[in-house]
Amino acid sequence: MARPHIEPFVDRDVSFKKLTMPGFKPGVNYKMLSIDKDTGACTMTVQYDAGFKQPPGFCYSEHEFLLMEGSLTIGGKKWQKGLYSFVPAGVSLPAMSTDEGALLLVFYNFGPPSFVESDKDHQNADRTDFKMVDSYQGMDWQNSTLFPATAPGCLLKILHIDKRTFGMTFLYCMTPGFWQDNISYHDCAEEAYHIWGTSWMMQFGELPTGGYFWRPAYINHGCFASELGILAIGRTDGDLHNYFHHDPFSTPEENHERAASRLARMKPALYNWILTSEHNHLPHDFEYPNDTYKTEGWDTGIHMHDDGQVHHHSASGAHSHLGGNKKKKKK
Ligand SMILES: [Fe+2]
Repeated sequence: MARPHIEPFVDRDVSFKKLTMPGFKPGVNYKMLSIDKDTGACTMTVQYDAGFKQPPGFCYSEHEFLLMEGSLTIGGKKWQKGLYSFVPAGVSLPAMSTDEGALLLVFYNFGPPSFVESDKDHQNADRTDFKMVDSYQGMDWQNSTLFPATAPGCLLKILHIDKRTFGMTFLYCMTPGFWQDNISYHDCAEEAYHIWGTSWMMQFGELPTGGYFWRPAYINHGCFASELGILAIGRTDGDLHNYFHHDPFSTPEENHERAASRLARMKPALYNWILTSEHNHLPHDFEYPNDTYKTEGWDTGIHMHDDGQVHHHSASGAHSHLGGNKKKKKK
């Protein structure tokens, strides 16, 4: 993903705009929180006007939404705040309406917002992971089972896990008086939105109600504190490992190095295979043979070899780590 680092951003600081994209019915207002300009994938605060109605239809992108205020009637069932839905690409949602209006947070994960009127799924849709749940009343808070874990007082409700990437969507709360005295980063991008409450972070200051960030991988964040507590929703685009440390001056490149060292330590056979196979090769997964992978657009691609040279990679700029090392030996 290629969304830029946005942190902090507070949606209360900007006004709603009317969504006038083809397909959408009148009465949809939005605030853009983050967007991938290559794909159109984005996260938005969305306000449906009172009286808004939408026929059955699907979106070409996987999308998720959380109802934060108001109510929504979907397929004849009335939902209150706390409704969370995961909608795979092409899955048709029943007719939707709201008498009083509704405030939502909406994630379009892989493509731009779209709406195609249809009471049937797209022919390529897979509705296996489709879900609608009352995340406030129908789910319990859990202590984090991620290891290494955040400090006590940060509780989770896991809303969705992507089976292929382990990317997650989750509600989280910090209890009043929460504090955590270390710094964290991850191998994945992380985004979050404060439904209610204010927390503080050493690098980015206070994030109030309506606060949002999209944070690419390997960026330091923390220490953390919240005086009165928060309720928030978060999402990652990959497996969330908490790399904790206490060096506020470590750079994203140094954080990459530390993460790669962990991989080499914990999965030496895999690490060695990656190093010794042709560099920039694209892996093929017989479990998901239609999946394709590309290196272009993964962060900056900057790294340093053990010959001390720092450089960028591009998908077309194939070279070999082993070749680089041999050159060094010749000197
Ligand atoms: Fe994090």
